Amino acid sequence: MSVVNMVWLYFGMHAILAKMIYLDSQVQRRLDQDLAILKKLRPLPPTAVAKLKEQFAVEMTYNSNSIEGNTLTLKETHLVLNEGITIKGKSLKDHLEAKNHHEALHYLYELVDHKAKNTVSEQLIRSLQQMIVRETGSSVAGKYRSGAVIITGSKHVPPDAHEVPHQMQRLIRWFKDQEDRLHPIELAAIAHHKFVHIHPFFDGNGRAARLFLNLILMQKGYPLVIILKHDRKKYYNVLQKADAGDLKPIVRFIAQSVERSLHIHLKVLQPQKKKQKKYLPLSTIAPETPYSEKYLNLLARFGRIEAHKEGRIWVSTLEAVKVYQAGRLRKRT
Ligand SMILES: Nc1ncnc2c1ncn2[C@@H]1O[C@H](COP(=O)(O)OP(=O)(O)OP(=O)(O)O)[C@@H](O)[C@H]1O
Ligand SMILES: [Mg+2]
Repeated sequence: MSVVNMVWLYFGMHAILAKMIYLDSQVQRRLDQDLAILKKLRPLPPTAVAKLKEQFAVEMTYNSNSIEGNTLTLKETHLVLNEGITIKGKSLKDHLEAKNHHEALHYLYELVDHKAKNTVSEQLIRSLQQMIVRETGSSVAGKYRSGAVIITGSKHVPPDAHEVPHQMQRLIRWFKDQEDRLHPIELAAIAHHKFVHIHPFFDGNGRAARLFLNLILMQKGYPLVIILKHDRKKYYNVLQKADAGDLKPIVRFIAQSVERSLHIHLKVLQPQKKKQKKYLPLSTIAPETPYSEKYLNLLARFGRIEAHKEGRIWVSTLEAVKVYQAGRLRKRT
């Protein structure tokens, strides 16, 4: 190899190492566009925003608590939080967890609304966990663990307890160092993984880490993002891949959750006069396209078409498939 080639190789490698890209560029473009549309709609109508915020707060409380084993349904969570109703046959713990999570979430909303600065800190992480387990595990609230923990359903063994303070300091340092280098979705997804990888507490790690993910995203202008209970298996799967050093799947997974939230917000907040996108199940769209439902499902999961999940099913638009088709044709010619 000539010296010139070696120099190019050196600088090429350097450039790659300096900016690792975890988010697919096509997905990034789409999400950046959606966020820009949302930001342009500001100032947003306060009543609609308040309604959306509460809807998402209830939805997230249900999903995040349900991932960790809470048995309240979405409707029951709504009744407990908004109507002050006690659900017969459900434990006191389930009720308290819902209330405590809801309070923690409103605390985050306030931090974001008041544009609090330099909020990402160990202290904030400890406060979030403290709020979450306040009434169900007060002996471990706000304190890093002093012993070993295991994660049921996962092969990952978190580090020894004596490593936790040091690793948490490193997480915050890493965050500050990467904050302006990574795309916010990459930053939030990787920070979330680092958090649960360390598993700093005896309880409440998953829920606190999902709030932490949202603090990062909301401070960058994104709406609240929900990891759905339906996606628990996938979520555990992508975290396991991240444990092994492959960060793209967790970033893609979080990007899909961001896309869902953005679509729902745009649907509600965009003025009716503007032509809104009509999201339909892939089974409805497929017959209008050259692709099968199964293939469209694959494209949706890999972020190749603009799509998001509603409950268990993927929805997209005919226009999104046309955009994909046009791109394929351009590539071929
Ligand atoms: N392979 C993995 N690597 C790192 N973290 C993981 C992995 N698999 C799952 N997790 C995380 O661990 C969480 C569950 O762990 P655990 O049951 O110990 O949580 P916890 O401390 O009781 O928190 P919570 O009560 O909020 O669920 C999941 O919500 C997820 O965020
Ligand atoms: Mg738990």
